[in-house]
Amino acid sequence: MHIDPYEKFWLWGSALIIVVFLVSIGATTFGAAIQPPSHVETIDPTTVMSDSRFTEPGVTINADGSATVRVVALMFGFLPGEIRVPRGVPVTFRITSPDVIHGFQIVKTNGNSMVVPGYVTQFTTRFDEAGEYLIVCNEYCGLGHHGMFAKMYVEDGAAAASGGVE
Ligand code: CUA
Repeated sequence: MHIDPYEKFWLWGSALIIVVFLVSIGATTFGAAIQPPSHVETIDPTTVMSDSRFTEPGVTINADGSATVRVVALMFGFLPGEIRVPRGVPVTFRITSPDVIHGFQIVKTNGNSMVVPGYVTQFTTRFDEAGEYLIVCNEYCGLGHHGMFAKMYVEDGAAAASGGVE
């Protein structure tokens, strides 16, 4: 069967692109632990502020040393605006929105998720490098979207225990 050289070029080119996509999905899933959050938990968006799960947004250090961070994402900011977590331990984020869809992206980490009203977004990750991190909203949510951000500080155990812990 005769196949025109140009057609051959595009056949092999398309096959190569598919392979590149599959390899990049595999590399980010298994190499960089980038996975879609799969937690499903609902909440009434009109009563978020009085819901016991979010009445006190902030960081809690659990008995096993891990941390839980409760965040309310709303137009146009995050509560709390400053988060301090310990380095090198599992950190579970629980986030919800009382108004519209927001994003929660911890820049330069694999912490990145949508925040949808009516649901509690939850994911667990770990930060091995101490320092200051920027958290941004990456879903367009209105006129103040560009100013919706928070700061996160990853600190060594003792320092973390002095800030924001209940
Ligand atoms: Cu919240 Cu964009």
